[in-house]
Amino acid sequence: MSEKKNIVITGATSGIGKALCEHFAKDNVVYAGYRNEKLVEDLKSISHNVVPFYIDLKQMDSIAFAANFIKVKAEHVDCLINVAGCVVAGAIENIDIKRIREQFEVNTFGHLDFTQRLLPLLEGGRIINISSKSSFGIFPFVSPYCASKRALDIMFNSLLLETHRDIKVISVKPGVIATPLWGKSIEENKDSIDAAIGFERELDYVIDSARKNETYGLDVMQVVKVVEEVAANPNPKSTYTVGWDAKLAELVSKLPQDWVNKLIKAGMKAKFERAKRNHSQECKG
Ligand SMILES: NC(=O)c1ccc[n+]([C@@H]2O[C@H](COP(=O)([O-])OP(=O)(O)OC[C@H]3O[C@@H](n4cnc5c(N)ncnc54)[C@H](OP(=O)(O)O)[C@@H]3O)[C@@H](O)[C@H]2O)c1
Repeated sequence: MSEKKNIVITGATSGIGKALCEHFAKDNVVYAGYRNEKLVEDLKSISHNVVPFYIDLKQMDSIAFAANFIKVKAEHVDCLINVAGCVVAGAIENIDIKRIREQFEVNTFGHLDFTQRLLPLLEGGRIINISSKSSFGIFPFVSPYCASKRALDIMFNSLLLETHRDIKVISVKPGVIATPLWGKSIEENKDSIDAAIGFERELDYVIDSARKNETYGLDVMQVVKVVEEVAANPNPKSTYTVGWDAKLAELVSKLPQDWVNKLIKAGMKAKFERAKRNHSQECKG
């Protein structure tokens, strides 16, 4: 029987992180990051292999405390999966700059800080970041989110290039996945949405798409499947996409910026006209 591995997962209480926790806890010890105390019992009920730990990526003390907790419990980490994340959205003209800083604290700096602290335990292991197709940087009205994921990918790729340690670093970039992230994003960005005077049509469309994504996105197991392969592959690539929309975003991002901008603007115009037509048909009906 093979020995159990030590896997650390942040954002293990919901969506992709929870599905990864359930999957890996079948045969491994999973250190599962939570923020909400009420969800600790839920995590423990997954398996006796789950060890919950508190981490709030907005709080540097909490990140240091979480890393120390893991260092006390485990001598080695085979795989660190940075999953936790949130979405800051709105019109870039008037999103509160504090919210944009928070976006980077959670999606970028928090993960980097946590990872730096665990590096001595990760010798011979791997780091898998759940980035996003948004890292390809082509989506308006969610630019803080796109930029936070791009920055995450750039800094961790630099870690891969620079490190003298035997650590593999991999970015997994899913397209739209059906998780509670979408509903939470609408709730958490209410202020920016209300402040976006003059962009009502655009943001109505963004909200409508977010609602649909929560139901019609890919199943979380598609991400679990890719992460499972990446975790087991002796020679993983540095980056993977999940879903056709992520593959398309990657392809489009390779075009010259002005071409990309023309495509996005034409796409938005067509979508708004379609939405307007549907709306007037609904009114007539
Ligand atoms: N869903 C998609 O379509 C999609 C696509 C591409 C990439 N992703 C990425 O996948 C990752 C997981 O997203 P998901 O869709 O599974 O969303 P989710 O269901 O909302 O899960 C997000 C997780 O992150 C945790 N989290 C949020 N803010 C945190 C903070 N400040 N400190 C510590 N933990 C925090 C949440 O904890 P609480 O429950 O306490 O908030 C939750 O456990 C994210 O990085 C997201 O950007 C998602």
